[in-house]
Amino acid sequence: MPVLILGATSRIAQAIAAEYAAAGETLYLAARDADEAERIAADLRVRHSATATAAAFDARDFDSHPALIAAAAEAMGGIDIAIVAFGETGEQKESESDFRKALSVIEVNYTGAVSVCEALAAHMAAHATENRSGVIAGISTVAGDRGRPSNYFYGSAKGGFSLYLQGLRGRMRRHGVHVMTAKLGFVDTPMTYGLKTRIPIASPEAAARAITRGIRRRKDTLYYPRFWRFVMFAIKAIPERLFKRLSV
Ligand SMILES: NC(=O)c1ccc[n+]([C@@H]2O[C@H](COP(=O)([O-])OP(=O)(O)OC[C@H]3O[C@@H](n4cnc5c(N)ncnc54)[C@H](OP(=O)(O)O)[C@@H]3O)[C@@H](O)[C@H]2O)c1
Repeated sequence: MPVLILGATSRIAQAIAAEYAAAGETLYLAARDADEAERIAADLRVRHSATATAAAFDARDFDSHPALIAAAAEAMGGIDIAIVAFGETGEQKESESDFRKALSVIEVNYTGAVSVCEALAAHMAAHATENRSGVIAGISTVAGDRGRPSNYFYGSAKGGFSLYLQGLRGRMRRHGVHVMTAKLGFVDTPMTYGLKTRIPIASPEAAARAITRGIRRRKDTLYYPRFWRFVMFAIKAIPERLFKRLSV
């Protein structure tokens, strides 16, 4: 099965790539740092005898996205699974004082993710008869379920992406293409480096296993770790007049 990973240098994406390589799938690893993506691809070729190609990809270079999807499809003979894994949390305080920083967070997590998903949707819809089992999986976050003062640029961009994926899921259904939203809690990656919390932090490998299992089972929305579904249910139930007073 040809698998395209966008944001392939992410720790979670690397663990997903290793899962698919071990299963004998063909990989196309697209990342902003093409040299690092090539290093990861070379490692998968040696470790798993995988067919893995690396390419440059910038989420904010919107115009380049359709050509990248076409190149990935040509290299692999189609795209069965596409995983949108990139993201940028940014620094909330810096984004509050410099809108260019906020814009970068919005463009990476929302506009860039939507842009590449639209290119994927167009490609998968056009190849619907040969590609009835296609999947687009977008990695979002539980932080997108409710706006909080501590991370609302990142949270709102990811929350918007989750809503976008929900709409895309309905649109692509008639083409036989499944769209999965993975809403992750804390995972031990550079994104959470130095985070002090009493809430359990998952390993990237465990998150990758949950995501690939979710794709196999055609889940609509996956919360991982699973307890976050109940945590967010409770958090969303707090009345706004109380919630706005909490320092969260
Ligand atoms: N870790 C968590 O606790 C957590 C929780 C919820 C959701 N998530 C989501 O999980 C996904 C994977 O993140 P991670 O935890 O594995 O963190 P990570 O290792 O820091 O990965 C983030 C990735 O995003 C890429 N990226 C940033 N801006 C980009 C751009 N303009 N174009 C292309 N790629 C870009 C980075 O590329 P460079 O290597 O070039 O910087 C990096 O590969 C993200 O969508 C993140 O929002 C993570």
